[in-house]
Formats: sequence, C-alpha cells, structure tokens
Amino acid sequence: MGVFDSGVGGLTVLHECLVTLPHEDFVYLGDHARLPYGPRPLEEVRGFAREIGSFLEEQDVKLIVVACNTATSAAMPQLQSELTVPVIGVIAPEARAAVQATRNRRVGLLATQGTVDGGRYRELVHAHDAGVELVSVACPRLVPLIESDDPYTGETEEAVREYAAPLRDAGVDTVILGCTHYPLIRPVFQRVFGRDVTLVFSAEETAREVSDTLARKRVENDTSRTGAYRFLTTGDPDAFREMGRRFLQLPIGGVEHVSLAELGAAA
Ligand code: DGL
Repeated sequence: MGVFDSGVGGLTVLHECLVTLPHEDFVYLGDHARLPYGPRPLEEVRGFAREIGSFLEEQDVKLIVVACNTATSAAMPQLQSELTVPVIGVIAPEARAAVQATRNRRVGLLATQGTVDGGRYRELVHAHDAGVELVSVACPRLVPLIESDDPYTGETEEAVREYAAPLRDAGVDTVILGCTHYPLIRPVFQRVFGRDVTLVFSAEETAREVSDTLARKRVENDTSRTGAYRFLTTGDPDAFREMGRRFLQLPIGGVEHVSLAELGAAA
C-alpha cells in the first residue's frame, strides 16, 4: 500500500493501518520539501498529488491512501480517474462519521485554508444530511507548529483556543479535525473543547475502509505473515526519523530520500 502526506501528519493514518492490517506492506511518503500544502493554491497541490500518486504506483502498490485532507480536497477525483489502483482519501469517512455523531446538527470543521476553500466537506456532509450546519475555520498556524521541534507549547494551545472560539460560539457539538496533523495534538483540542464535544478524525475510519476494500477485491495478503513498512521523504531523512518515531509510536528503520525530480519524472 502507498500512503502519502505533505509531512508527518499522515502517520496518524498509517499508525491505524499498521495496527488494523499487520500482514500488509506499506510505503509512506512525506513531501517535506513542499510542506505546508495548506496555504498553496489547490491547483498546485493537485500537481504534487498527481506526481506522488504516479510515483507510488510505480512502486507496485496495490492501493493508495491519500493521508492528507488538503491533497484529498485538491486532487481526489483526478487521482481516482488517472491511476489504475484504487485510491482512498480521508474526507469522506470523516464527513460520514461527523453526521452520525452530531446530536444538535451543528458541526465544526478545523482544517487548512486549502481544505476549507475546496468545499468538499460541505458537499459530503450535506450528501449525508442536508440539514446539518457546518461551521468552518481555517487554521494556518497549526501545521508549522506541529512540525516544529516542540509542538506541545503555550503557543500551540493559544492558537487552538483562537481557532476554536468561533466554533464554541456557534454551539457545535461535533468537531472534525480535518487535517491529518491535528490528531497529533489531540489532547490540546479535547481540553479546549471539553468532553461534551465529539472530536472526529480520519485515521480509524480510513483504516477500516482500506481493510474492507482489500477484502472485497480479494487482494489481502496472507494473514499469517508479518508486513513490512518503509519511509520516503523529499526532505531530510534524519529529521523525518526523529519526528516520525515520536508520532508513529512504532519503530522507524531506514528513511530514504526521494528527489522532487524523481517524483516529477513519474508524472
Ligand atoms: N496533513 C495535511 C492535511 O491533512 C497537512 C497540510 C499541510 O501541509 O498544510 O491537510
């Protein structure tokens, strides 16, 4: 399976996939050279996602997980129509889970600028329940803080409080953490919103969808084997290993560097 994100955020999704599917093999690519994706035009992110999708397909993966909400917003229909392997994104599972969870039908969305502008959450939430009110807030400060040397600072908490304020004022009872980086600081969100607000994030739901897809297409590996996983980054492999270890909470062996030229050649 191929899994990708702009950085380490997608490791929240990979973690669930490794736990749910310990007999499958994974290759994870973090596009650190071009992080963050959030403030970039969707068109540009679509180009990155197409390069990475083609590159991963060349690695002989049997399925691709777009473990990045911004890339899912920007490129989902195109990736599915251009690649030959199935492509699973992170937005549809979250939209469904949020609609199921809300009791007062007021849902908040915290995400990158690109994801908010893309409007896919609104479409998908309304496809499940047109009566749900969705309040969206773009959070441009969060991804750089989470990818910094120490994400657990007062500055991070202050940023979360600022972004949470309009959602609290709107009285939402469910909040979608619509960026795969955000669950890495989940306790900060939960403390700011309180226990009565349900936080929805994609990792578990997405891993379940990957598992169902493999089973229905009858392409699962033998469950008695132990799968392998490896890492690629367009940035600094040592920095990736250090941060990745903390967030994946599983051993990280070698991390290889892949150049933007190699990705470009695959597209
Ligand atoms: N994890 C990406 C997402 O889910 C982060 C985006 C970014 O690089 O800004 O949107």
